[in-house]
Amino acid sequence: MLNSLLHKYTPLLIVSFILFSVQKVSLSVPPDEGMWLPILLKELNEEDMKKRGFRLSAEDIYSVNKSSMKDAVGRFGGGCTSAIISNEGLLLTNHHCGHSYIQYLSSLQNDYLKNGFWAKNKSEELYCPGLTVTFIVNMEDVTKKVLENTDNISDELQKQAKINQNIANIEKEAVKGTHYKARIFPFYYGAEYYMFITEVFTDVRLVGAPPESIGQFGGDTDNWVWPRHGADFALFRIYANAENKPAQYSPSNVPYKPKYVFPISLQGVQKGDFSMLIGFPGRTYEYLPSQDVEMNVKMTNPAIIRIREERLKIIDLAMRLSDTVRIKYSAKYANISNGYKKTNGQLNGLIRLEAVKRKQELEAQFQAWADQQGEPYKSILPKFATLYSTLSKLNLASTYINEAIFGIEILNYATNFIELEEIAKKENSTDQEFEEAKRKIASGVHVHFKDYEPRVDRKVMSALLQIYYDNTTKAEHPAIFAEIEKKYKNDFVAFSKHVFDKSFMVSESEVNKFLEKVTRKNIQKLVDDPAYQVAKSMWDKFYREIKPEYDKQSAEARRLNKIYIEGLRKMLPQKKFYPDANSTLRVTFGIVTDYEPRDGVRYEWFTTLDGVIEKSKSLNPDYQIPDKLKELHAKKDYGRYAKNGVLYTCYIGTNHTTGGNSGSPALNRDGHIVGINFDRNWEGTMSDIMYDPAKTRNIMVDIRYVLFIIDKYAGAGYLLNEMKIIE
Ligand code: ARG
Ligand code: GLU
Repeated sequence: MLNSLLHKYTPLLIVSFILFSVQKVSLSVPPDEGMWLPILLKELNEEDMKKRGFRLSAEDIYSVNKSSMKDAVGRFGGGCTSAIISNEGLLLTNHHCGHSYIQYLSSLQNDYLKNGFWAKNKSEELYCPGLTVTFIVNMEDVTKKVLENTDNISDELQKQAKINQNIANIEKEAVKGTHYKARIFPFYYGAEYYMFITEVFTDVRLVGAPPESIGQFGGDTDNWVWPRHGADFALFRIYANAENKPAQYSPSNVPYKPKYVFPISLQGVQKGDFSMLIGFPGRTYEYLPSQDVEMNVKMTNPAIIRIREERLKIIDLAMRLSDTVRIKYSAKYANISNGYKKTNGQLNGLIRLEAVKRKQELEAQFQAWADQQGEPYKSILPKFATLYSTLSKLNLASTYINEAIFGIEILNYATNFIELEEIAKKENSTDQEFEEAKRKIASGVHVHFKDYEPRVDRKVMSALLQIYYDNTTKAEHPAIFAEIEKKYKNDFVAFSKHVFDKSFMVSESEVNKFLEKVTRKNIQKLVDDPAYQVAKSMWDKFYREIKPEYDKQSAEARRLNKIYIEGLRKMLPQKKFYPDANSTLRVTFGIVTDYEPRDGVRYEWFTTLDGVIEKSKSLNPDYQIPDKLKELHAKKDYGRYAKNGVLYTCYIGTNHTTGGNSGSPALNRDGHIVGINFDRNWEGTMSDIMYDPAKTRNIMVDIRYVLFIIDKYAGAGYLLNEMKIIE
């Protein structure tokens, strides 16, 4: 309440920065917004963390001198986080993070997604090809070295080339003679650079996973939504060679001996408790100018939502009508829907927060300050305004192409064949080159068609082409649209029928036949293919006309943004800034607490097994659970995992998180694991652009529910023996 009053009556207040909870806590309590760099914790955050209840020190989280928590937080695969919970390299992450590996290891006979998987001993653990876990050995500020000899290069592109060259040299030098990897990331749009030295483990094995019906209980229905009841966890183990170093898979590898192991606490959490996460958040955009936020609100997000809604509607209907389609499209549907739901939540949140207006208020203050300062700050905001008058149109055009045109599977697939035509047309290309390109396509044919239904895609095509046609300008239409107009009078249903009747890209056997026959000298069948023609025409439009200009203007936006943040930091010297997420290791802290999604409604901060049972009584297939879980509930057979007869399942907090934070250990004031992060609430998803302490909540599964599932449900209690469990 007080929050909104504050905003109304203090127009110059830099709201997006002073948004801390004034509801129940005193003003001396620090804000929860922020994804902080581990090496700056001591200087920037330790005091605030202690005020929130933290009982350890920054040195316990990140230390160069001793083992610390960061040694036990690994980036899991390409986009999640995981935590080490035993001396034998046992790793805890989310079920949805391990999903593709569990699926890969499953077969009809051994359906681990459906039934779960529990290795009874180490010899039963299953190697996951391609899965890596990456730890941060060390991080370092290398800004000076990266920017060396770049000051007097005035051309932006040349300057970037020199920076890239410096980066490559520093990275190479840093890990010379070691098995480590080095990677330098820009922060604040390139105002600062940090180098991360990492150790990448490549032999990682599946140890245990609950059935999907428990691990991802609630499915798409509950995704991005609180209240939530999923036990979203899976267990893996890292293996190393005899020297405890990373090694390719080998039966002779041994469990990795970690430098640090997280203890697990059975104490549970209470409302108001300190809550901390360590993880690898992917991307956030907290310092955008108002024009960019406005572009998201008015143009990009509504476009994504409309297009995805159409796709989902068509696929959903087809899945309901046929089991074959349902199985083929379930992962695709989940993926489209995950982005759709998040975009929708984000849009609603930005509108509710009046994010554009808040940005404009901050900008008014900035301009007043910049006018005193002079250049380069003074002209930044006017430059943004000019730039976005064209950049937002290019951005929208790119969004339509990505979402509508390349949301049509056959067109997306057809772009794989463009290389063949290019090689065939190139003067001095060789047969060998052509054969290599063919092999690349051939290797993916089966995977593509295994989950493909032309009759679904044809409906998607007619709908999405229509949307593209209706919502883009003539200048954004590919050349082929003139032909569709002439021959089909813009009847996209008829045109799509023609494409699917005539294209060879609708079936596995026809594509294989094509690949057998096609030669560098004769690609006529490809050039004549109607699906290929649309894809190629769109591709040319995008890569020749739209993208080069879009890239150029985006680079200019980044350059301006760098100066803008530099100015903001000078204007507000007392304020603690955190850099946007960029997949590097971050710490976020806050408290466990409830929230009001809208007027008159308050959501509890926790859920219980009773809620799982309650939901399971509905007919929704996302809520069906195994009988065993119902029996345990009926007998209240919760063991030591319940408190006063209640088995807690999930809880929420004010931790500032984003995609990539999935699987992050959720820690209490003593640094013990009390939960695992796995999602965010729908009302809070705009926090990638603007965090709102009143509404933004991260969703965690209570570790006691995880242990209950392992021990009581799966009968795999022996796994608990290697964990450090604090009663
Ligand atoms: N919302 C979660 C995140 O963004 C994904 C959860 C996966 N589950 C699902 N039903 N799609 O990654
Ligand atoms: N499910 C997301 C992930 O896999 C986390 C949710 C979020 O974006 O906060 O990283």
